[in-house]
Amino acid sequence: MIRSLMSSFRTSIFVIFITFKETIRAIYYHIFTKPKDVTNDIVLITGGGRGIGRKLALAFAELRPKHIIIWGRNETWLKKTKEDICKLNVKSSYYVCDVSDKNVIYEKAREIQESVGDVTILVNNAGSLSGKSIIFLQPYDIESTLKVNTLAHIWTVKAFLPAMIRNGKGHVVCMSSVLGLLGLKGVCDYATTKFASTGLMEGLMLELEDYSGINTTIIHPYQVDNGMFAGMTVRFPKLFPALQEDYVTKETMTAILTNRKQVTLPTYFYMVLFFRSVLPISSMLPVQKFLGLDKVMDKFHWEVPDMAKEGEESSSCDTLVT
Ligand SMILES: NC(=O)c1ccc[n+]([C@@H]2O[C@H](COP(=O)([O-])OP(=O)(O)OC[C@H]3O[C@@H](n4cnc5c(N)ncnc54)[C@H](OP(=O)(O)O)[C@@H]3O)[C@@H](O)[C@H]2O)c1
Repeated sequence: MIRSLMSSFRTSIFVIFITFKETIRAIYYHIFTKPKDVTNDIVLITGGGRGIGRKLALAFAELRPKHIIIWGRNETWLKKTKEDICKLNVKSSYYVCDVSDKNVIYEKAREIQESVGDVTILVNNAGSLSGKSIIFLQPYDIESTLKVNTLAHIWTVKAFLPAMIRNGKGHVVCMSSVLGLLGLKGVCDYATTKFASTGLMEGLMLELEDYSGINTTIIHPYQVDNGMFAGMTVRFPKLFPALQEDYVTKETMTAILTNRKQVTLPTYFYMVLFFRSVLPISSMLPVQKFLGLDKVMDKFHWEVPDMAKEGEESSSCDTLVT
């Protein structure tokens, strides 16, 4: 009995020590780490034609990497983003690539390796949302969300990680969601995929401990004010306003450039996660109801993206690779 108590005590001290050490390390990293140089990097961003992916592509372009590749299904959006990147004198290519198809991912990965080179920063950003209760979800909705939000991350990692390991240089980034850490009514399929990406990235982070020079980053943003969750309402929108794409982009770039493993946006969500971990799950239900989270997706609707909102039409740029 005493021996078992001593053992638990020793384990608790060890856990507290590690937590303390890692917290200090994270704070130190946040304040003192200089952003890394990406001028020799080949960056690939899935879903880079619009939304957060487009903003990330333009933010990378400011840092003048060797090449920026964007993937998506809509060629008009991809072309516009590529042109805006090349206006900043950065080489860029776009590939029409539906990431729900494993064979297409592998085919485009081979093409990129041959025509551009080894991707060194992979940003798995493309995501889709059905926004229906599980009762109304059709098998196609579920399979499609799983393919885009989860399986595509696995296939891209399998396609690009071997070269990163060979070269001793790489970074895998995952745009997840707070719904990868907390469940919510009306998004069972989406939350499943985002929880899966959390598991994937944690496992990957641990597997890559054995290799030097390769980093992982996972970002968990709350709702972003860009139409993906159009109509989503909370009871106190002033207390929990939707995030701006620019804020998510800036924080994501900082996390990538300082090799942070995980970021939750906004930062006060760490408190929510803490209480979620230590309190019984049933105690969250009244809190969810009070905040109106049980009705949050009731007014959800699809919003067609508007190119005009993304800024001026681009001029063509013939000098760079397509
Ligand atoms: N918006 C939010 O409230 C929010 C909150 C937390 C996390 N996130 C996550 O952030 C990421 C970016 O989303 P966003 O806010 O920028 O939403 P968005 O504006 O709807 O953009 C989604 C992006 O994913 C691409 N995409 C979707 N299905 C694809 C497919 N099958 N193949 C290739 N590309 C595909 C789209 O490109 P095409 O249309 O050209 O295919 C588009 O570029 C997603 O992973 C999302 O889950 C978003």
